[in-house]
Amino acid sequence: MCGIIGYSGTRQASPILLASLKRLEYRGYDSCGMALLNGNKVIDVKKGTGRIEEVNGKVDFLSLSGKVGIAHTRWATHGNVTMENAHPFTSCDQKYALIHNGILENYVELKKQLIEKGHHFNSTTDTEVLVHLIEENMKQAKDLIDAIKKTSEQAEGAFTFLLLSQDSGEIYCFRKDSPLIIGVGNNEFFASSDITSFLEYTNKAIILENYELAILNDECKIYDLVAEKEIEKDISIIEWTAEQATKTGYPHFMLKEIVEEVEVSKHALDQDPIKLAGIVKLLHQAKNVYFLGSGTSYRACLIASIYFAKFTHRNFMPILGSEFKTYQNLFDNETVLFAISQSGETADVLEGIRIAKSKGSKVISLVNVMGSTIMRESDQYLTLNAGPEIAVASTKAFTSQVIILVLLAFALNNQLSEGKDQLNEVIDQFEIIIKQSDFIKELSKKVLNKQNLFLIGRGVAFPVAMEGELKIKEIAYIHADALAGGELKHHTLALIEPGISCIALVPNDETKDDMINNIMQIKARGGIITGISSEKLDIFDHYISLGKVALEPIAMIPILQLIAYHLSVLRGNDPDFPRNLAKSVTVL
Ligand code: F6R
Repeated sequence: MCGIIGYSGTRQASPILLASLKRLEYRGYDSCGMALLNGNKVIDVKKGTGRIEEVNGKVDFLSLSGKVGIAHTRWATHGNVTMENAHPFTSCDQKYALIHNGILENYVELKKQLIEKGHHFNSTTDTEVLVHLIEENMKQAKDLIDAIKKTSEQAEGAFTFLLLSQDSGEIYCFRKDSPLIIGVGNNEFFASSDITSFLEYTNKAIILENYELAILNDECKIYDLVAEKEIEKDISIIEWTAEQATKTGYPHFMLKEIVEEVEVSKHALDQDPIKLAGIVKLLHQAKNVYFLGSGTSYRACLIASIYFAKFTHRNFMPILGSEFKTYQNLFDNETVLFAISQSGETADVLEGIRIAKSKGSKVISLVNVMGSTIMRESDQYLTLNAGPEIAVASTKAFTSQVIILVLLAFALNNQLSEGKDQLNEVIDQFEIIIKQSDFIKELSKKVLNKQNLFLIGRGVAFPVAMEGELKIKEIAYIHADALAGGELKHHTLALIEPGISCIALVPNDETKDDMINNIMQIKARGGIITGISSEKLDIFDHYISLGKVALEPIAMIPILQLIAYHLSVLRGNDPDFPRNLAKSVTVL
């Protein structure tokens, strides 16, 4: 979590850093700060708590002058949300300013040693230790590269950082376990957690690996600190555009990204046939296949595993990223781990991948962010082709994940072209559903804007309901509970009383009759049913329609996303930035 950005070039750094920082805000938004080297070769720092606009209103980042600088947006892990704990941090001698993304695991003992050596700390963060440690190591080191190498050997955990040096006017960009990308512009360089933050200025990028250090001034030099030598790295051309990372007239990124689902799903279907065939072969050969994902991506795993069971009669068990260790004994060299992640950086998933690989398993991944760690650590990968997803709540990436996974289930059953046809029908439905957004908004206002909501579904519609539940909780801050219709009688019927609102997903498939029974159980206790179905049933109190398609539960996904979105806005929340959450979850 946290977003870091650095700039070194020929222009004033503060407007560029501020614009880039705003594009990183989805990674954390409880406090932020900026440090620039001014014309008198002094490092000026400004920081504060709150969203970037709010902090800028108080401290005026643009009043900072200089052509080299760093900026940070924070998602607090160690240390409360206070001005003192906001990055950047400076060394005692004010020669260095540092921003960090990750968690320094052994910071307590390092801090104690540094205090004993006379260092003074202003914050309760793990990060501040890094800048003092580098300062301390400089006392013995021949240069900053040497001091950073020593620091990287002493520090434990994830500590990707940017260090602004007053003496040299350079930015030292070090990567360990959190992403770091160098943007290569015209006589200017960027260093960032995410490509989208500097896409407006350049689409040329160098992706750093762990223990690599880039030094930016009027050129960019890269060192491998383990091999102790300077290295050459390829420059990748990023195909995303800067416009894709802006709201383009929509009130929120989330709404824009839901609307984009039609287009993006078509791109998702358009997979490289050779890559697809390679993955199908690997899945065929594997003795066991397990899916791995967190949050929304895990719900995509659940949906996929049902379709794989239906079409291929094989059990591809879904595992929650954070629960991987419980199942690690299942992995060996005949097993494939299929990791699903929008960001490609989720720490829980990455940990699972590393463990599985250490046991000889092959790893396939499905990611959105090109060059992400999960993509690079996988044996084979597919990309979502969804373009940048900025809203914290995943929407278009989720539908793309589902589309590709279902396509693979068809492909594994030698039905690729039938799969494409059925999925294209789903995409047509997305278009129709998105046009019903105003109707869904009205319904959300009148019927669903309650303190508690229940969602029921069976078969594939159950994990689809679970995704609806997740979104409603995440951005509307409403307590929601999704359950398989058949489970009601085992517990949750106890909570159904007159007026309780329940969303029922009723696809026209083998689950329909059972769903009708479950709906009757709710209605008998006074519950109010909003039915989502291709057929208007008498038992629905309210109804959201969609067309009859073979993969109906998947077509329902944007309806639930729109419900969550409208509920969030109705309740005065910012759906793009749900409280306490960040998009790229790089902590365990
Ligand atoms: C919810 C959401 C999160 C992510 C989860 C995994 O809307 O977006 O639950 O799905 O943090 O992230 P990725 O897919 O990047 O691994």
